[in-house]
Amino acid sequence: MSGRRTRYPGPIAEAKTHPHSLVEQGFAEDTALAAVLDRYPAELFDINLYDYDDAGQVSLRTGARGRLSGEDLLEAIKQGRLWVNLRGVETAWPELWAAAMKDFAAIQATYPGLRAVRNAGQLILSSPKARVPYHFDAAGVVLFHLRGRKRLFVYPGDERHLPERSMEQVVARQTTEELPYDLAFENDAQIMDLEPGRALTWPLYAPHRVENLDRFCVSLSMDFQTWPSRFRNGALFTNAVIRSRGGEPRLTDGMAAPELAARWVASLALKRAGAMKSRIATFERDFQPEVGVADGAGALNATR
Ligand SMILES: [Fe+2]
Repeated sequence: MSGRRTRYPGPIAEAKTHPHSLVEQGFAEDTALAAVLDRYPAELFDINLYDYDDAGQVSLRTGARGRLSGEDLLEAIKQGRLWVNLRGVETAWPELWAAAMKDFAAIQATYPGLRAVRNAGQLILSSPKARVPYHFDAAGVVLFHLRGRKRLFVYPGDERHLPERSMEQVVARQTTEELPYDLAFENDAQIMDLEPGRALTWPLYAPHRVENLDRFCVSLSMDFQTWPSRFRNGALFTNAVIRSRGGEPRLTDGMAAPELAARWVASLALKRAGAMKSRIATFERDFQPEVGVADGAGALNATR
């Protein structure tokens, strides 16, 4: 496949894989993972369990960290149907982060004009049959794959697959990152299978979803902002505020750089003034990981 798969400008025109060195450095071995799970701060865990109906629409349950040892938590993920994100790798696992940033620099160098100004990472440990729903990230992403196999579905970044009104809602934290999804989108997906040692990147904002291919998976998802992505996120935020006040803002895909920059400046003042309160509630947790139960999801406060 060739040609631009997105309506937004940027040096990355389509999904593509690159080599990385994180596997050979031992970061995805059981002993390393169990140790990091043992010491990782509980507030940096997101534990998700996704279910899908016949129309591909998702429902989400969330888990609390619970009291399992790192070794048992690892086992619960291997046996279950869990998606575990460890946020803040840049501070919580500095050795992995330093190695990943080296690999990132090499990948970035293959895209003339790409210049990340801020990077952050989450380590994802996920069960053999876990799937992540259709969504977009308001950032560039490099997905370093370390263990298992996963299939990435990357969709065009046009108004049909990625409506700006939905993007505004996500950027202004009025909803989580899920976009309206239709099974018909599957005809438009670019499908890439990821093996350990490969890192995948895709055009800024491109919608995507993930299916694990029957194996326990480990990936490091690195997101990054560039000045153009900051400007556009700011413009989307400003548009969300205008829309919430009954306005009909022009879509950012028709704006040139100076107008995007001006709307970014406006977004800083609006954020300072608290113009848009986040509507993402702190989730009530539904379960805690457990070994030897369905999906790896045990009852909360179960006596063990
Ligand atoms: Fe994503």
